[in-house]
Parts: sequence; structure tokens; C-alpha cells
Amino acid sequence: MDFKLTEEQELIKQAARDFAQNELLPGVIERDEQQKFPKEEVRKMGELGFLGMMVDPKYGGSGLDTLSYVLVMEELSKVDASSSVIVSVNNSLVCWGLETYGTEEQKEKYLHKLATGEIIGAFCLSEPEAGSDATSQKTTAIDKGDHYLLNGTKNWITNGGTAGVYLVIAQTDKDKKHRGINALIVEKGMEGFEIGPKENKLGIRGSDTHSLLFNDVKVPKENRIGEDGFGFKFAMKTLAGGRIGIAAQALGIAAGAYELALKYSKERKAFGTEISNHQAIAFKLADMHTQIQAARLLVYQAAKEKDNGANYDLSGAMAKLYASQVAMETTVEAVQIHGGNGFVKDYHVERLMRDAKITQIYEGTSEIQKIVISRSILK
Ligand code: CAA
Ligand code: FAD
Repeated sequence: MDFKLTEEQELIKQAARDFAQNELLPGVIERDEQQKFPKEEVRKMGELGFLGMMVDPKYGGSGLDTLSYVLVMEELSKVDASSSVIVSVNNSLVCWGLETYGTEEQKEKYLHKLATGEIIGAFCLSEPEAGSDATSQKTTAIDKGDHYLLNGTKNWITNGGTAGVYLVIAQTDKDKKHRGINALIVEKGMEGFEIGPKENKLGIRGSDTHSLLFNDVKVPKENRIGEDGFGFKFAMKTLAGGRIGIAAQALGIAAGAYELALKYSKERKAFGTEISNHQAIAFKLADMHTQIQAARLLVYQAAKEKDNGANYDLSGAMAKLYASQVAMETTVEAVQIHGGNGFVKDYHVERLMRDAKITQIYEGTSEIQKIVISRSILK
């Protein structure tokens, strides 16, 4: 597989790098401390076309490939994973899901606004008792003829308080198990739809995570995505691509921590020389660099397979599993290389370490990626 970037892809990568340095970096510590949503930054990312990167320009998107998208995810995540998860959910889960499986009317009504960042979207699968075990949905969408009556609770929803549109997965026919599940488009402000309190998190603290409560919400039939009973497949297919975005996020967190550690190791002196001259530190950097490059190749491979129309379930799961492990290991080592400075906020690596952890949990935990991978290689 040829991973040489085109001139256009190099330019997109540089644009994302510049944006991260100039616009995300200045307020990132404050947003993390205060759990402040990057509202203005999201608006600017919409203007740059980062919120609908793969969407057809006729719906307001940038019409780019998945590789360009992962390049942007990597660069943004080097600096601010709270902002990049907003980009990931909007692009991979919400816009991709709607563009691929939505009706023309649904695309006209919602996709343009989502792709330009006029509104952002949320993807709502997880529940208090259905996380990894995603088929055991308790939220119900009962068929009432011209509408569904939606009842239940969703948990941990990224963009939960700030989204305008929510793709909600719910059980319509319990007897049919996962084949009785539907995906519905729910708008903020629909009667009976309440947003629960914001979660106080270890990492990605600038991103906005809420539970959502649905109490007899009437969702028009035309808001169902795909055929009756397609909701679980919709979620699985959408998540398969989402995992490439989160793998790129993990890669970016790792690469960001490595870049900071490399620079610091050449500046900080101990025992009369730069710490990079101590082999114990140089070998840490060698391991980090090698692991990051291996993760990058897995992420690019998954993106290319998606762009080439191949099945990317396996490559996306491998990329997420490995890149998230590298993110965790690399950020811990970056803190170590910074010594005491690594433990304080001004040097950024402690935040990257806290942010890295979520990449092993959301969009399918590492254990779930191993289920997907092992089923694929054993079948
Ligand atoms: N594409 C299409 N269909 C798929 C599929 C895929 N990748 N994976 C599974 N399916 C289909 C199966 O074919 C099956 O349908 P049929 O019986 O009609 O063939 C159906 O889905 C059920 O599949 P399984 O029997 O494999 O289901 P399972 O109960 O064993 O679970 C699982 C499989 C992979 C573990 C799945 O439950 C899973 O992915 N769990 C993790 C959930 C998750 O990732 N949640 C993320 C929430 S979103 C999020 O986290 C966003 C964020 O943080 C920012
Ligand atoms: P559980 O499923 O209860 O798992 C607990 C532990 O058991 C994990 O280690 C898990 O790997 C392990 N485990 C479970 N089953 C198995 C098995 N069969 N084999 C081996 N090990 C197993 N969800 C959304 O729908 N939309 C969002 O936008 C979203 N954003 C999120 C943002 C944040 C900050 C967080 C923390 C979560 C978010 N999630 C979202 C939810 C996330 O996807 C789930 O937390 C995740 O899928 C795990 O589910 P759970 O928390 O219920 O853990």
C-alpha cells in the first residue's frame, strides 16, 4: 500500500497543524481545568471545513477522503483531544451515517447544517446497562403509526449538551432482538427530551458528555434511518468507520506527547549533559518513535481500505486497539521524561496522558476490539 501523501493531503495536514497551534493551544489548559466546551474553536473548524470533511460538497461538505480526515484528526489531537473528539463524532458517526443511509429529505434537512458546523451532532447508543453489550438496548421506540414514541435513557453522550441533532438507537420490537432496533433522528427541543447533568471526567474535559432522557418523545416516522429494524446494523457499520477516527485521535495524542518529550529531552540538562544523551532516555524515545510509526501505518491502512471500498472492520479495529495502547504507553513515558515538570499542567503531557485513556474505552473498549479482530480472523 502506498502511503505517500498527495500535495493536497500535505496542505490539509499543515492547515490542521497550524490551526491546532494557533487556535487550540492557547486556551487548552483553561478549557481542560474548567471543563469548558471549545465553542468558538468549533465554529472556526466549521469554517475550515473540518466538520464535514468526507461529505459531498453538494451537502456543504469538503468532499475529501478518509486519509485526509485522519491527518486532520492526528494534528488536532496532538494538541487538544477534547476538540478532536467533537470532529470525530460529527464526521464519522453523524455525517457519515446520515449521508450513507439517510433519505434525500433527511440529508437536505440535516446534513448541510451538520457538515458546515451550523449545528453539531451526537451519536447515542450507550445506556446505563448497555455499553459493550450494545444489543441489550432498554430504550424503546414504539411504533405508533406515523411516529415512534421514544422512552429511556442514554449515557455518556459526547456533544450531549451542545448538539442540535441526535442519532438515537432504540428497541422497537424486543422479540426480534438486534433485528428489532431502529435509528432515529431526534432534534434538540423535541417535547419530552431532556439533557442530564454534565459528567466530570478524568480526560477530554473540554468535550461535553451528558446522559439524555427521553420521556414519551414523539419522533416522526420520516426520521427513521433505513428500513425498519436496520438500527443495530446502522450502529455497527457507522462505528466501524468511527473507530478509524478514534485510532487517529490516539495516534495524535501519542505523537503530540512524543514531540514534547523529544524537545524537552534536548533542552533539559542533568549530570552535565542534555538528558537525551542518557541512553535510558534515548531508548524511551526510540521505542516511542517506533510504536507511533507502527500505529500510523495501521491507521493509514484502515483509512485507505475505506477509501478503496474494501471492508475495513478488521483494519479499523486493529488500528484503534494498537494506537490507543501506544497513546497510553507513550504519554506515560512522556511524563517520565519531563520529570517533575511532567506532573504539572503547564507542560501539557499530564493532560495528554489523561486524555489518552479514553481512547481505550469509547467506540468499543480494547476488549471489544479484540472480539471484533478475533471473530474476523477466526471466521
Ligand atoms: N457491520 C455490519 N453488521 C454488523 C457488524 C458490522 N461491523 N458487526 C456486527 N454486525 C451485525 C451482525 O451481522 C449481526 O446481525 P445478523 O444477526 O443480522 O447477521 C448483528 O450485528 C449482531 O452481531 P453480533 O452477534 O456480533 O453481536 P454481539 O452482541 O456479539 O456484539 C459487538 C458485537 C461487536 C461486541 C458489538 O456489540 C459492539 O460493537 N459493542 C461495542 C459498542 C460500542 O462500540 N459502542 C460505542 C458507542 S459510540 C461512542 O463511544 C462514541 C464516542 O465515544 C465518541
Ligand atoms: P462495560 O460494557 O460495562 O464494560 C466494563 C468492562 O468490561 C470493560 O473493560 C469492557 O471491555 C469489559 N467487557 C465487557 N464485555 C466484555 C466481553 N464480552 N469480553 C471481555 N471484556 C468485556 N457512547 C455513545 O453511544 N455515544 C457517545 O458519544 C459516547 N461518548 C462517550 C464519551 C465518554 C467520555 C465516555 C466515557 C464514554 C462514551 N460513550 C459513548 C460510551 C462508551 O462507548 C462506553 O463507555 C463503552 O462502549 C463501554 O461501555 P460501558 O462503559 O458500559 O462498559
